[in-house]
Amino acid sequence: MNSVIRRATVEDRHAICDIQRSAILETCHRSYPQEDVTVWAGLLSPETYYGIENRYFVVAEREGTLEGFGQLNEAEGEVDALYVSPKCESRGTGTALLAHLEERAHECGLKELKVRSTLNAEGFYARAGYQRLALVRYRLVPALMLVCVEMRKRLTP
Ligand SMILES: CC(C)(COP(=O)(O)OP(=O)(O)OC[C@H]1O[C@@H](n2cnc3c(N)ncnc32)[C@H](O)[C@@H]1OP(=O)(O)O)[C@@H](O)C(=O)NCCC(=O)NCCS
Repeated sequence: MNSVIRRATVEDRHAICDIQRSAILETCHRSYPQEDVTVWAGLLSPETYYGIENRYFVVAEREGTLEGFGQLNEAEGEVDALYVSPKCESRGTGTALLAHLEERAHECGLKELKVRSTLNAEGFYARAGYQRLALVRYRLVPALMLVCVEMRKRLTP
């Protein structure tokens, strides 16, 4: 059975937080130093996702369990977040979430989408048609500067 993609609700905040934390500690850890992923994951709590119901924030759910989530910044034309639980990797969940966000972006009249990809996810976005523009430094908090890859995809109908 395929996962279903739906808008996130306030009740999803704990599960979303668990997914993002474990994805950072287990998946992003492949490309970032231990001290960075520890600080990064430590920034998260269910309160981090306050107001998700007011943003374009979607979750992928399979048989009552959340497998991943994604967020589109419609004003900036940017994929703000895309995370899949390490337990659910390589099942096509990330691809389904990204395709959903692209479809939404297209419906909003956006002609292209940007993403600041983590180093570990560059190959994933490249397979989905995103082109690398530049390496960028992204300061999440004073104690944490992450190197990311700025990428872009032109959206076609
Ligand atoms: C990147 C991420 C979203 C991919 O999710 P996923 O559900 O495992 O991806 P899919 O199963 O849809 O993979 C689609 C294809 O991309 C490939 N792929 C997945 N992650 C990849 C990676 N990091 N590098 C290269 N290829 C990758 C898969 O092998 C698959 O190929 P296939 O169709 O030939 O089997 C997930 O690994 C993740 O959450 N990573 C940690 C958080 C993160 O870095 N997010 C990006 C923030 S910008």
